[in-house]
Amino acid sequence: MSFRKRHGVPDLGIGIGFRAPHRAAILESPELPENTAGLAAIDWFEVISENYLGDGGRPLATLDRLSTNYPVIPHGVSLNLGGTDRLNVDHLRRLRRLVDRLDAPWFSDHLCFTAAHGVEVHDLLPLPCTEKVADWVADRIRAVCDAIGRPFLLENPSSYVSWRADAMPEWEFLSRIAERADCGLLFDVNNVFVAATNHGFDPRRYIDGIDPERVVQIHLAGHSERPMRGRPKDAAGARPFATASDLTGGGVARDGGPTSTGARPFATASDLTGGGVARDGGPTSTGTPGFFLFDTHSRPVADAVWSLYRRTIARTGPVTTLIEWDEEIPAFPVVAAEAAKARAARQEATLSSVGTATKEPLSANSVQTPGELV
Ligand SMILES: [Fe+2]
Repeated sequence: MSFRKRHGVPDLGIGIGFRAPHRAAILESPELPENTAGLAAIDWFEVISENYLGDGGRPLATLDRLSTNYPVIPHGVSLNLGGTDRLNVDHLRRLRRLVDRLDAPWFSDHLCFTAAHGVEVHDLLPLPCTEKVADWVADRIRAVCDAIGRPFLLENPSSYVSWRADAMPEWEFLSRIAERADCGLLFDVNNVFVAATNHGFDPRRYIDGIDPERVVQIHLAGHSERPMRGRPKDAAGARPFATASDLTGGGVARDGGPTSTGARPFATASDLTGGGVARDGGPTSTGTPGFFLFDTHSRPVADAVWSLYRRTIARTGPVTTLIEWDEEIPAFPVVAAEAAKARAARQEATLSSVGTATKEPLSANSVQTPGELV
């Protein structure tokens, strides 16, 4: 039985992240016309948990108004599930209070570490993909679930470097943790595309490598190209990511801290750009030489990510979906229009996949890295 059925989690439909610039549009102008890119396009909202862990004041008053009219799901950024510091008991107590206040059917956070030796870095840092780390994270997730008392979803991160110690692809790492912790997945399709482009793998392998029955929610967002600093593109446009030592300055942390993998972790420009499109028309990485993809949440969802979303829905069925937009936030109708687009894509993928969801798996031969697509 799927994680969703076992835990009775509902399909909430299509939502967006609740952000301050849209507060008035959402809370004070509820009568937008039907069938426009307005509130009619929004079924639910996600909030950043850490913004609502205080004891009162305007944030919680706003949250109460929002949750009166919509389901609201708390999404965290600082549980530090991969860290080695002790879990923060006060944080968990406050998080439980928030989850209970919202009567949320689930809560979520990221597969990463965010602090070490008591220092918060306010970033979602990648973990070594090993059995030992998988066990460690799974144990911490179980402890968090015991503390909160609701189903937990683990989100796959975007990433820019990898570890020398990596022993398996991230999708296997994510899957093992979810199995061992018996948690659900918050599957971020844009993060898959960003990581695939930066690391040079076929994003379809990631999608096909996870258990669709554990996917409870999906994230969609826009990303940006950023130039590699300190290493201008050479005349031939080759090696924009260069070698591990180019990225780390030769720096492998003595305590086993994160670094790149030594031998060409990012491969070459052609590995990354690959000429763009898979021979069978499937999406693949389309990076530009000298640039990497950065998970900015500052743009509309890319066409390739929409395509990967439809592939995901074909495997999972119509699961709860959210549009994230956190930088250069446009007017509310622009984000609502992305939500409407997600609704249409989800419906289309659901209808077209009936009876065919598992008929077109990638064979070993058809799995391609961007470099192999040249
Ligand atoms: Fe996300």
